[in-house]
Amino acid sequence: MKTIIEPFKIKMVEPIRLTTVAERESALRRASFNVFQVPAEDVIIDLLTDSGTSAMSSEQWAGMIRGDESYAGARSWFRFEAELRRLTGMPHILPTHQGRASERILFELVGGPGKVIPGNNHFDTTRGNIEHSGAMAVDLVIDEGTQPRCRHPFKGNLDPAKLTRLIADIGPERIPVCVLTVTNNTGGGQPVSLANIREVRDICRKHGIALFLDAARFAENAFLIKLREPGQEQRTAREIAREMFDLADGATISAKKDGLVNIGGVLLMRDDDLARRADNLLILTEGFVTYGGLAGRDLEAMAQGFREVLDEDYLRYRIRSVQYLGERLLEAGVPILEPPGGHAIYLDAAAFCPHIPVEQFPGQALVCALYRYAGIRAVEIGSVMFGRRDPETGQASHPPMELVRLAIPRRVYTQSHIDYVIEATVHVFHSRNELRGLRMIEEPPVLRHFTARFAELGAP
Ligand code: F0G
Repeated sequence: MKTIIEPFKIKMVEPIRLTTVAERESALRRASFNVFQVPAEDVIIDLLTDSGTSAMSSEQWAGMIRGDESYAGARSWFRFEAELRRLTGMPHILPTHQGRASERILFELVGGPGKVIPGNNHFDTTRGNIEHSGAMAVDLVIDEGTQPRCRHPFKGNLDPAKLTRLIADIGPERIPVCVLTVTNNTGGGQPVSLANIREVRDICRKHGIALFLDAARFAENAFLIKLREPGQEQRTAREIAREMFDLADGATISAKKDGLVNIGGVLLMRDDDLARRADNLLILTEGFVTYGGLAGRDLEAMAQGFREVLDEDYLRYRIRSVQYLGERLLEAGVPILEPPGGHAIYLDAAAFCPHIPVEQFPGQALVCALYRYAGIRAVEIGSVMFGRRDPETGQASHPPMELVRLAIPRRVYTQSHIDYVIEATVHVFHSRNELRGLRMIEEPPVLRHFTARFAELGAP
């Protein structure tokens, strides 16, 4: 059969409230044009994130009932630990309440003033935690990774030449760890190849630098390797994922993505001494080492989620459904970041509305238009999220791309929901000349995209 169906049946439903354009217009104004401030009730299709928004399976819900809530050494912990060991082979497995808690512990231990932490593209919370420790975060993605129209199969790869140059320039002593984010969320959900992980590992090893994966979307990365990397097509996604972890010295994982759960995270490492120090921080701020800020039932759901996500019928459907959205938009002439990646389609807002300069946040303008027209909530990944203002000169700097992410929650929306998104996006594209830029009228000092307030500028 040519048609790839959703490989699950729906057992429980959650109604969607269908709002009018007028209702959405007033919700948008109340939210100061920041959709993070819009109540979810007022959203029809929520593509803000694929994080923590998965539908759990009946087996995961069964695990929630089975959860052992003992403080120390709960049955659920042992099940979780065994599943993560089978998946990653890592000796030290620390549960945390979500990805950024793992990042905070790791960078508190290895970061600090004077340190530099390279990566392909750090996600915003990763960058935030690195900078919070006093260290500097550097993005070294390959040049193809910043060209929206370039169809390189592994646009998430880190450029080995850039890494070698950085090490030569500042010395390996200042670089405690290098982070490969798989898939590369900030760069468009683009995968990193096994060959690239191997090459980066070799450079790191030569200079005594640890290699960590930010493995939030490890299963999607593994399946894209299977589809795109020569010689990998016969292997299972599980074998490929295991090799990815085998090449690394540790990993931070937000289980809210490929863990198929609504909350949870993991911190993995090989180094015994680092693990001892991480255990102490975990106990101090998250919880005892066998629950790490989670309930026993959450550990059960994660253990089952990390098993289910490597089901290849699921992964084939998952990657295909994102690709379907991308292909239909491309057919209609909508500029997107190509090729479609793992968990989302990224609209190229700079090309979508070229009449709005980056200082007026074209991505945010597009986010507002999608919400206004169809109640679709997307997220800006451009100058709102990653733009910076120099504290001394007041000069604004902008990231290389202005993107709007349509992130697809796992196992939540059906093809007709996606068809609705296609119809709405194409409509907004045809009336793109009416989109208006924005001015940021309130700017919080860190992770400003969550709470910034905007005003809409006059008609062009
Ligand atoms: N790393 C990556 C690559 C991520 O995408 C995220 C979260 C995190 C780390 C942090 O994990 O949310 O569990 O603390 N990304 C979400 C997103 C928020 O919408 O892409 P967390």
